[in-house]
Amino acid sequence: MLLNILLVVAIAAALGAASAQSDWPKCETSCGNLTITYPFGSGEGCYYSSDFLVTCNRSSGEPIPFFRTGNIVISNMSPSKSEIEVMMFVGRDCYNSSGLVRRTGTSLRLGSARISTKNRFVAIGCDTSAYFRGRRGNDPNVLDGTGCISRCDSNSLLTNGSCSGVGCCEVAVPEGLRTSNMTVRSFDNHANITDFNPCSYAFFVEQGKFNFSTTNFLDFQSVNKMPMLLDWAIGNQTCDQAKDMDGFLCKGTSKCDQVYAGPGYRCSCLEGYEGNPYIENDCKNINECERGTHDCEHICVDTPGNYTCSCRDGYSGDGRKNGDATGCSADQSTFIKIALGVSTSAIFLFICATWLYLILKKRKLVMLREKFFRQNGGIMLEQRISGDGISHDQAKVFSIEELKKATNNYDESRIIGKGGYGTVYKGVLSDNRIVAIKKSKLADQTESQIEQFVNEVVILSQINHRNVVKLIGCCMETEIPLLVYEFISNGTLSDHIHNKGNSSALTWDIRLRIATETAEALSYLHSAASVPIIHRDVKPMNILLDDNFIAKVADFGASKLIPVDQIELATLVQGTLGYLDPEYLQTNQLTDKSDVYSFGVVLVELLTGKMALSFDRPEEERNLAMYFLFSLKQGRLFQILDEHLQLNEVPSEIIQVSRLAERCLRVRGDDRPTMKEVANELQGVLASMIKEHPWVVTGLNEDEGEHLLKELTTDYESIHGGNVNSSTFDSMSQHTMLPIASGR
Ligand SMILES: *[C@@H]1O[C@H](CO)[C@@H](O)[C@H](O)[C@H]1NC(C)=O
Ligand SMILES: *[C@@H]1O[C@H](CO)[C@@H](O)[C@H](O)[C@H]1NC(C)=O
Ligand SMILES: *[C@@H]1O[C@H](CO)[C@@H](O)[C@H](O)[C@H]1NC(C)=O
Ligand SMILES: *[C@@H]1O[C@H](CO)[C@@H](O)[C@H](O)[C@H]1NC(C)=O
Ligand SMILES: *[C@@H]1O[C@H](CO)[C@@H](O)[C@H](O)[C@H]1NC(C)=O
Ligand SMILES: *[C@@H]1O[C@H](CO)[C@@H](O)[C@H](O)[C@H]1NC(C)=O
Ligand SMILES: *[C@@H]1O[C@H](CO)[C@@H](O)[C@H](O)[C@H]1NC(C)=O
Ligand SMILES: *[C@@H]1O[C@H](CO)[C@@H](O)[C@H](O)[C@H]1NC(C)=O
Ligand SMILES: *[C@@H]1O[C@H](CO)[C@@H](O)[C@H](O)[C@H]1NC(C)=O
Repeated sequence: MLLNILLVVAIAAALGAASAQSDWPKCETSCGNLTITYPFGSGEGCYYSSDFLVTCNRSSGEPIPFFRTGNIVISNMSPSKSEIEVMMFVGRDCYNSSGLVRRTGTSLRLGSARISTKNRFVAIGCDTSAYFRGRRGNDPNVLDGTGCISRCDSNSLLTNGSCSGVGCCEVAVPEGLRTSNMTVRSFDNHANITDFNPCSYAFFVEQGKFNFSTTNFLDFQSVNKMPMLLDWAIGNQTCDQAKDMDGFLCKGTSKCDQVYAGPGYRCSCLEGYEGNPYIENDCKNINECERGTHDCEHICVDTPGNYTCSCRDGYSGDGRKNGDATGCSADQSTFIKIALGVSTSAIFLFICATWLYLILKKRKLVMLREKFFRQNGGIMLEQRISGDGISHDQAKVFSIEELKKATNNYDESRIIGKGGYGTVYKGVLSDNRIVAIKKSKLADQTESQIEQFVNEVVILSQINHRNVVKLIGCCMETEIPLLVYEFISNGTLSDHIHNKGNSSALTWDIRLRIATETAEALSYLHSAASVPIIHRDVKPMNILLDDNFIAKVADFGASKLIPVDQIELATLVQGTLGYLDPEYLQTNQLTDKSDVYSFGVVLVELLTGKMALSFDRPEEERNLAMYFLFSLKQGRLFQILDEHLQLNEVPSEIIQVSRLAERCLRVRGDDRPTMKEVANELQGVLASMIKEHPWVVTGLNEDEGEHLLKELTTDYESIHGGNVNSSTFDSMSQHTMLPIASGR
């Protein structure tokens, strides 16, 4: 029992949460299909006044809600509009051929309620007069009313849906009717038309809920009720009168509504709220944004009783769509921003892509270079360089970019020599040093060749002799290694001897000096360098001259390093015809004496000014060495001397040098002097000549002559000491040109 009560209480509480009945759990919230809302109520204390009583009759199965204590059924209820819909009886006046059969009118007493002006008063029939009267104000003796008449024949032009006086008539309902006494009568008792229209009908009906049809003449005999709207107000006072009194209902979120002219007041929710305005604070805020009843174009924000509209970033306006709202329009700056954003991101993407592409490409290139570097012995070279404790200053490994920049990307105009071995470019390094860059043609190198190449680069880069062209460095990153030499400016000795214009400048003393310097360089290579080097291609074309005619032995492309424990080396014969050692040609055994032979030919060329080998000459004179030896034997030295050397008397120095040349050209290598002996002898000749005839040093003043002498002496000493001190050779810093030995 207790449990049951608790249960009922709980359920009622849950159901009546939104109504006043929640204060009184015993109040019923519904009757049948009707939801009962305050100020209506069906139990004691549940309604505002007896005018709002709902009688719920449950004695016959389905519960039926009645308006007040009468017999009018409430079919709907809406406190927010202060309206209820009731089922109102139809009044009628019916006949058969014998006379009146049935007559009913309707009478209403509405209390606080009124007949809503949303109703029409309608009469149906072809012999019909219907009217109603009722009290509008508070005075029960003042009655107002109206009505209508409808007449027709069985043959009349009746129209479905038209209620304008033929078969059907209707009138509007005056405002504020609180009672009604409705009467319907027949003029002629429906004489002669009882078969198709036996009755007259009259009723109030909610507008739009009834359409006239010709069938209504008969079928309305079974229709008892029609829906009708009643509205109501609280009490008999206005808002202003009522608001300070006890029991005033429009509180909290509801307001008092005096749009209604009659006595009493009504409540309604504040705008933007919904609920039952007759219950304090039952009107709740409407979330228009959630419900979608807003008119915001972009952003809707709910506020108590209202909502606000705003536009997205970059747009401006009031954000509303309807009426004279400005809506949302994109700011001009937004277009710019968007355009800017889009374009910057596009550019950014493009840059990223390009960057990535370049990186990948560069990586590929770097890998390729590394491969070449490896292939060309770059690593070996690096090991050698670091292992030998040699400073990088002496054998610099250049990057491909450095040399590319130095040669202006191997520009044609930079080519200073071309031949079977490759191309030589003139280049300017970033420190403004002028260099000659040799791009060899040597391709596929075997492992041992690479080692040799590395050896040569290492050794040559260490040679610091004033009469040897200095190797500054190399580049291994290309497929073919690039060699970088100092730049020698004045061309080859060959150019000077054989070019008629130049040869006159080559006076005897200069020739002697060049010969001496060349011999010193070769001697140094043979004996003084850490590993003996055989040049293998000694010829005037490989002897470069700088502006002061200082000789520089160049082109070690064919040179061989002779391991210390070996005095001979079997190789393929290589060299230039005319300078080739005949013994080497026969035996393939390379020794330092091969260079002595070649140097002998150079001496002869200096003496005679003739080419080492020329097919223009008679057969016996073709090979200069042979011709020279032959002439010397015959005592005809004077006749074959260069015309510039044909002085009045043959100086003894020329004879001395000629004899030396003869010894160098001996067929057996063992019979030839060593390069050191040759150099010493030439130095002796030169020294004695300068001492005896200082004036002979043409083109040089005395100071220069002394300077030259001093230099030569120093060279001599340092070479004899077997120790090359680079500080001795101050002229090393002079840059001169590289050899172009195309004749190999
Ligand atoms: C209540 O509603 C149901 C279904 O909507 C309907 O069948 C029933 O007739 C209604 N009862 C009343 C009294 O109107
Ligand atoms: C309820 O309805 C029944 C039959 O419809 C009727 O007999 C009874 O008097 C009604 N009760 C009330 C209180 O109206
Ligand atoms: C007319 O109605 C009355 C009362 O219902 C009835 O007694 C009479 O027989 C009816 N007359 C005819 C002709 O149907
Ligand atoms: C009116 O409509 C009904 C059916 O709804 C039809 O039987 C009748 O003939 C119509 N009357 C006229 C005049 O069209
Ligand atoms: C309704 O009006 C009729 C005649 O017009 C009158 O006889 C009757 O007493 C009235 N009824 C009420 C309740 O006023
Ligand atoms: C009904 O018909 C009779 C005979 O046809 C006629 O005398 C009488 O006037 C008619 N009544 C009306 C109201 O038209
Ligand atoms: C009456 O007719 C109108 C239009 O012809 C229609 O919209 C309306 O629903 C009808 N009402 C009823 C109750 O049939
Ligand atoms: C208003 O109604 C009350 C009862 O509800 C009554 O006592 C009072 O006289 C009425 N006032 C007027 C002006 O009708
Ligand atoms: C809601 O706000 C808008 C503008 O802010 C205003 O025009 C409108 O009247 C307001 N509505 C309510 C119910 O306050």
